[in-house]
Amino acid sequence: MKVEGRHYRTIWVAEDGWTVEVIDQTKLPHVFEVLPLKTCEDAARAIETMVVRGAPLIGATAAYGMALALREDASDDGLERAHQRLLRTRPTAVNLRWALDEMMAALRNRTREERPAAAYARAAEICDEDVEICAAIGRNGLAIFEEIAARKPGERLNVLTHCNAGWLATVDWGTATAPVYMAHDKGLDVHVWVDETRPRNQGAALTAWELGNHGVPHTVIPDNTGGHLMQHGLVDLVITGTDRTTGSGDVANKIGTYLKALAARDNGVPFYVALPSPTIDFTLDDGVTEIPIEQRGGEEVSQMTGRTEDGRIETVSIVAEGSPVANYAFDVTPARLVTGLITEAGVAEASKDGLARLFPGRAKGS
Ligand code: MRU
Repeated sequence: MKVEGRHYRTIWVAEDGWTVEVIDQTKLPHVFEVLPLKTCEDAARAIETMVVRGAPLIGATAAYGMALALREDASDDGLERAHQRLLRTRPTAVNLRWALDEMMAALRNRTREERPAAAYARAAEICDEDVEICAAIGRNGLAIFEEIAARKPGERLNVLTHCNAGWLATVDWGTATAPVYMAHDKGLDVHVWVDETRPRNQGAALTAWELGNHGVPHTVIPDNTGGHLMQHGLVDLVITGTDRTTGSGDVANKIGTYLKALAARDNGVPFYVALPSPTIDFTLDDGVTEIPIEQRGGEEVSQMTGRTEDGRIETVSIVAEGSPVANYAFDVTPARLVTGLITEAGVAEASKDGLARLFPGRAKGS
């Protein structure tokens, strides 16, 4: 997608042919800065500190992290060490494990000499595949947007989204935002309610920045506003991304997603989830008990960072001193609350059968 008129992906190889470059998402929306990653440890830290984030981009960064590791040590031990280090970075997004498994499969049986080049090549393929997948999700989601818009001709289509499942969370296009961009580009009058998404504000800082750069009408709302808007007929559909979806259609996504799904169900608003197939964990059935939920540092809740009027970036405390805080990063929306799963292969019912029909042979025990 474009930043000030120039096309960017979120991750690429620099002109020297080996340094990996990413957009530092901790600085957005105030500063656009590109960060070089030169070692596996750089890539691991970029994932842990959320310089890069979002399930597909976490996977892509881990893939390049393997390539960076093999430049230094392409032995079997080096390969295993890099795999273990990167796998530990974040627990919920299953694209991480998927990408690392893909890399291991491409590298395990190669010689030491072959491994670095093969790793860069497979990482590049993973990125290209992600772009293709997200574009296909966009086309499949667009059909749903057009169907809902056709029921209210001449009126604006209001979409609500949570967190950032935009191009910044993937390599390009995004998952939940891909149909938004395609609808907007096609001339559909689409407007997005953007949940700010406490505690890290991925909605306010990232989704709003993306949509603004692309000229998509949007409004940032506090996380607690969605239910009220739905009661007043101001939301036509909700669409979110996901970090891991079980083989039976339970959806883990940024904390607060479940509450939006409950409000949507109570108000008869369709609740869609957009996801690439590498986000489906066919080894799991029950999302609530089986998906590991990351707990992050309390300072993400007790502090906020922003830009002052004179342009300085400042971090301030917002919680009474001494009060304990909790920071669960994700929650699970049960399949029964999900209207449909928009994937690159089509739209699936959120159920074991629905996913098995779309991805035959991948279901547990098949
Ligand atoms: O903690 P984050 O910012 O990595 O969480 C990201 C999300 O929850 C996204 O909505 C999700 O990864 C879907 S990404 C297309």
